[in-house]
Amino acid sequence: MPILLDGKKLASEIKEELKNKTIQLKSAGGKVPHLSAILVGTDGASQTYVNAKVKDCEEVGFESSKFVFDDTITEEELLHEVDKLNNDDRVDGFIVQLPLPKHINVDKVLSAIKPEKDVDGFHPVNFGRMASNLPAYIPATPYGVMELLKRYDIPTRGKHCVVVGRSHIVGSPVSILMGSANYPGDATVTLTHRFTENLEHYTKQADILIVAVGKPGLITADMVKEGVVVIDVGTTRVADATKKAGFALKGDVLFETVAEKASHITPVPGGVGPMTRAGLLMNTWLAAKNEIY
Ligand code: GUN
Repeated sequence: MPILLDGKKLASEIKEELKNKTIQLKSAGGKVPHLSAILVGTDGASQTYVNAKVKDCEEVGFESSKFVFDDTITEEELLHEVDKLNNDDRVDGFIVQLPLPKHINVDKVLSAIKPEKDVDGFHPVNFGRMASNLPAYIPATPYGVMELLKRYDIPTRGKHCVVVGRSHIVGSPVSILMGSANYPGDATVTLTHRFTENLEHYTKQADILIVAVGKPGLITADMVKEGVVVIDVGTTRVADATKKAGFALKGDVLFETVAEKASHITPVPGGVGPMTRAGLLMNTWLAAKNEIY
């Protein structure tokens, strides 16, 4: 049986570390980190994510605030809200929850966030700094993936890492980090995406396979080699009447059969998801301590 990469356990360890550091900071008279979140509209998943982020802050003793707007908000009004948080000294970092309504230019909004407060790491300045191996906010999910590899001591130097999915939030930054001159990193990276021909030709060569697509069951056992390390970033809500919430979270990897061949694998839920949440807290801590800029 493979080693399960237990993101839930690791995330609670990271939260415990942050909680203790916050207690020390407070008793030394320091300013407690403050995370703000902007949420536009009533998308169920987005509401859940933002509420979870606020709850995480409470758990580690951070301050937080949430700004909710109707999906009729104009781009100009939203840019104004971003600017208010940019200039609010009480707020160390903030996020604009995605997706945004279609009438709003996402790139424009993300670029309006002050890089120093961009704890999601989505601003082009942070992306560029990350790609240049300069101190930067690493987006929360890539942070979570890297931290899982690191805390389980998984060797990455010289390994072939195949990334499936080239999103701006996960696949693209993860491929940069895995190829960078760091640990985890120093890997030979193949970035595959929707136009990749013969996907299994690449996935079968992976020593480390990182999948971030959002298609349940995309990766099957015949597509991987024995001993592969599998990181499944997919979390798709699939209707399931037996669950209290009415849905189950499904990864991109067909877990049962792929697990039989893997040396290490993340479960869904309980793998990358909790680590993503820990990543945002870590960035908020760094923002409060001015450790990046
Ligand atoms: N939507 C899905 N994932 C994310 C994330 O990490 N940050 C933000 N702001 N929105 C998201």
